[in-house]
Amino acid sequence: MDVEICTDPGRLDRERIFRWLSKESYWARGRSRVKVDRGIEQSLNFGAYLDGEQVGYARLVTDEVEFAWLCDVFVDAGARGRGVGKALLAAVRETLVPLGLRRVMLATADAHGLYGQFGFRPLADSDRFMELRSDDGAPAPGSSGADADTGVASTDG
Ligand SMILES: CC(C)(COP(=O)(O)OP(=O)(O)OC[C@H]1O[C@@H](n2cnc3c(N)ncnc32)[C@H](O)[C@@H]1OP(=O)(O)O)[C@@H](O)C(=O)NCCC(=O)NCCS
Repeated sequence: MDVEICTDPGRLDRERIFRWLSKESYWARGRSRVKVDRGIEQSLNFGAYLDGEQVGYARLVTDEVEFAWLCDVFVDAGARGRGVGKALLAAVRETLVPLGLRRVMLATADAHGLYGQFGFRPLADSDRFMELRSDDGAPAPGSSGADADTGVASTDG
């Protein structure tokens, strides 16, 4: 099985990504199409393709100098367990290496074993980190607080 990874945002199947994230993921359920599109436009995107059809997605939010946040990693249910997720992570790592960032972060409920294969480790100094969440009753900057999807950083996935 040959998985093709492509970083061209113009090739992404946005409708499919919207469905995966908004209807099937555990972290972005209910995210609007507008927000999914805005996320794509402001990220480095990775599409995974089997026989030309998109079967996976991941994106990096980064300043390309110091920091990146890896999120919205998703493989279509019918294509799981065949190396697509690992191919996505390999491409992400390949993109990250030359940038030489100080820190790349992500959050996951249960896929630690996947990310661990690509060098990610649990936070060594978690007591130094803090977060501002829109679902904590503290509205994120610029947010009305009415939309649970306006967090400063997405929390999982
Ligand atoms: C997690 C996910 C991206 C993995 O993609 P995939 O194409 O099925 O994964 P691969 O076939 O490339 O292999 C995944 C590897 O990570 C391991 N792994 C660890 N935790 C895992 C998890 N929660 N889900 C899937 N694989 C996991 C697998 O055992 C496998 O390792 P191995 O080949 O050494 O046995 C996919 O199952 C998915 O989209 N799940 C639903 C959404 C999700 O949870 N996304 C991640 C959010 S952080």
